[in-house]
Amino acid sequence: MFKHDVIEKNLPLMCVMIVIALSWAGLAEIVPLFFHENTNKPVEGLKPLTAVQLEGRDIYIREGCHVCHTQMVRPFRAETERYGPHSVAGEFVYDHPFLWGSKRTGPDLARVGQRYSDEWHRAHLYNPRDVVPESKMPSYSWLFEDTVDGRMTPRKMAALRKVGVPYTDEDIETAKDAVDGIAEIDALVAYLQQLGTVITKR
Ligand code: HEC
Repeated sequence: MFKHDVIEKNLPLMCVMIVIALSWAGLAEIVPLFFHENTNKPVEGLKPLTAVQLEGRDIYIREGCHVCHTQMVRPFRAETERYGPHSVAGEFVYDHPFLWGSKRTGPDLARVGQRYSDEWHRAHLYNPRDVVPESKMPSYSWLFEDTVDGRMTPRKMAALRKVGVPYTDEDIETAKDAVDGIAEIDALVAYLQQLGTVITKR
C-alpha cells in the first residue's frame, strides 16, 4: 500500500508532487489541442491579413483597443443574438498574439467587420461622441495625422511566416510600398472591416 502520510507530512515533497500532478493534468488538457483539427486548421476561406490590415492590427494593439474590447463571441444565446455567430478556434490560427481578451468596457469586436461604413468608423474614432453621444470611448484624433512607416512591415510578415502564416514572397516584397505613408486611420479601419467576416460572409 502506498503510504500517503509520508507525503502529507513532508512539505517539500508534497509541493513537488503537487507540481507534478498539476503539470501532468495541464499537459493532458493542452497537448491534444495542438493535434486536433478543430483547433489548428484554419476555417475555410481564412486569409492572412494584408500588409495594410496587419499595420492596422499593430495600431490596434499600440492604442490599447484590446484593453476595452474583446474579440471573442462566446457560444451563449445573449452573445450570438447581439454580435453574430460565436467565434471558433479556426478563425484565429493566423493571429499572433490572439486578442480574445476577457474585459469588455466596450462591445465585443469579433464580428464588427462590415457592420458599419468606413465613414462611420472614421467619425467614431475621431470623436466617439459625435456618433454615439453617451460613449465613454476615448477619441483617437492623432490617427488622422500620423502615417505608417513601412520599414518594418516586411520583417513582421517574414516573422509571422516562420510561425505558420502563409505569406508569399510577393506579399512580403510588396508590403513596404503598400503601407508606407498611408494615414494610420486607414490602416486601422481596414483591419476593423475584416474582423470576423470569414464567417459572416458565408
Ligand atoms: C476606455 C475603453 C475603450 C477603449 C480604449 C477603446 N474603446 Fe472602443 N468602445 C468603447 C465603448 C464604451 C464603446 C461603446 C460606445 C460607442 O460605440 O462608442 C466602444 C465602441 C466601439 C466600436 C463600436 C462597436 C459596436 O459594435 O457598435 C468600435 C468599432 C470600437 N469601439 C473600436 C475601438 C478601437 C479601434 C479602439 C482603439 C483605437 C477602441 N475602440 C478603444 C470603449 C473603448
